[in-house]
Amino acid sequence: MRTYTVGYFVGSLSSTSINRILSKALIQLAPQDLEFTEISIRDLPLYSPDYDTHYPPEGVALKEAISAVDAVRFISPEYNRSILGALKNAIDWASRPWGQNSFDHIPTAIIGASIGAIGTAVGQQSLRAVMAFCNARQMTAPEAYIHYTPEVFGDDGTIHNADTEEFLRNYMTEFRNHIHRVLTVLPR
Ligand code: FNR
Repeated sequence: MRTYTVGYFVGSLSSTSINRILSKALIQLAPQDLEFTEISIRDLPLYSPDYDTHYPPEGVALKEAISAVDAVRFISPEYNRSILGALKNAIDWASRPWGQNSFDHIPTAIIGASIGAIGTAVGQQSLRAVMAFCNARQMTAPEAYIHYTPEVFGDDGTIHNADTEEFLRNYMTEFRNHIHRVLTVLPR
């Protein structure tokens, strides 16, 4: 198989984000033929259709970053059982202007970590609905709802639990296989 590039979104803007820690762990456990680059959402203004005729540099950079990769992955907490505002704002930017949706047919996966026991399950369903409308090709299985504890996840992304490590390694292998399947029939 060839090498695939993955752009990843960390949904949280927190300087102590557990989802950023999870993103480091996933990179360490990924198959060697995946390459990763973060797609930052931090500096985007709030989207308005008024920008459609002239996107600001942050919006242009976002769309260029997505078009430069083979696939995207979302690593995000849930806020109040839904998508974080900053992440939804980035998705809205990428989906427009009308007819220039950056997510059209792109291979996608969603994962998230929470300090709560259900591990972002509800927020992920909201995100899945949004990405379905954006016509992304989502990996539907395996799902990954991560209950974060500092005993399992080291700050540098090392994992101190063999079952969790094996689960996430398999998750990343399945994502690579998903990318390969999608791009075989829908090359970018
Ligand atoms: C939360 N948190 C949270 N957790 C959860 O499991 N379900 C939820 O709906 C919410 N809602 C929520 C709203 C707001 C405004 C905040 C600030 C927090 C807790 C959340 O899981 C926790 O803060 C995580 O650490 C957030 O992930 P990051 O930012 O550390 O990656």
